[in-house]
Amino acid sequence: MDTVKNILAKQELSKEDLVVLLNAGPEDAALIFQKAAEIKATYIGNRVHLRGLIELSNMCAKNCLYCGIRRENKSVERYSLSDADVETAFQFAIQNKLGSVVIQSGELSSLAFIEKVESYLRKAKEMSDGKLGITLSCGEQTEETYLRWKAAGAHRYLLRIEASNRELYNRIHPNNLLHDYDRRLTALTSLKNCGYQTGTGVMIGLPFQTIEDLADDLLFMRDFDIDMCGMGPYVEHEQTPLSKYNSMLKPVQERLTLTLKMIALLRIIMKDINIASTTALQALADEGREQALSAGANIVMPNITPGIYRNKYALYCNKPGINEEAEDSKKNLELLAKRAGCEVVYDAWGDSKHFIFSKV
Ligand code: 5AD
Ligand code: SF4
Repeated sequence: MDTVKNILAKQELSKEDLVVLLNAGPEDAALIFQKAAEIKATYIGNRVHLRGLIELSNMCAKNCLYCGIRRENKSVERYSLSDADVETAFQFAIQNKLGSVVIQSGELSSLAFIEKVESYLRKAKEMSDGKLGITLSCGEQTEETYLRWKAAGAHRYLLRIEASNRELYNRIHPNNLLHDYDRRLTALTSLKNCGYQTGTGVMIGLPFQTIEDLADDLLFMRDFDIDMCGMGPYVEHEQTPLSKYNSMLKPVQERLTLTLKMIALLRIIMKDINIASTTALQALADEGREQALSAGANIVMPNITPGIYRNKYALYCNKPGINEEAEDSKKNLELLAKRAGCEVVYDAWGDSKHFIFSKV
């Protein structure tokens, strides 16, 4: 078997190589993180771009078995931000020069929802003279809806594949058309066809998930030629069906290290994409998000949802920042980026270089 050092010197990594790297012990893992940091410095620089995260609504038509806001969780108090709340969040992003926002929501496909999102996109553009960058993360929709939202101003879209292994996907979702693996793939392809910078990602440390699955997840992202990635650890939520497998989970520290390795390896195999340091990382460890920046991530997402709604968007337990307001979240992430030795870039979209280069 090749040593980690030899593998890291290769131009192209195979599934076997990735498995060896994902299994690497602490000393070898340090080499992986170092290599990812070098690649990030060369292709991206030590810059971090911000995305103000707006959690638009926790209403969701879906029932993903891992998610705290799944439709059948009756203990969730449902909300949708008011128009005024959304405008306040846009205003905050503009005034604080965040450059971009992410509008995230539970998945709904009603015309009312589609129109609402469209109107917010137009509002954001109007309020900022077209300057605010907008990423959407509102689930699987038809190509027509994706085009409609694109025409209204969205230019990036995040839709996680969650688990690229079809069997694993089926184990963590109900078995019906609303949660169909092929439908998810079709939606991801539609996003590319519509000209979005397309992002995907997976959860790391799921019950039943193997190291081989994670290696395949990395290859899936490479072969799909994504522009951006948001991936994070699976964090259990007691009010979900998947929590009955909690005893199968890897310990927290192991899940954290595995997530950091996934980020580093993705940076190594997809040098110029945008990779987010996700909130779930911090649910596992206070320093989780800055460690991700050191391991290759270049995007952070201060939550700018009004504080009173934050505990209601609880996808998993121990979600950080539920007692913060937009101002606190922004300051905390700025400090975090500084601790990771990164320079925060203001007033810029921070588009995926991978996407930009693929168009020239
Ligand atoms: N742990 C970690 N991530 C989760 N998500 C949903 N539930 C969980 C959980 N229990 C993630 C999914 C989804 C995104 C909005 O949140 O990957 O795509
Ligand atoms: Fe809904 Fe997304 Fe949660 Fe699934 S993961 S239940 S689609 S909010």
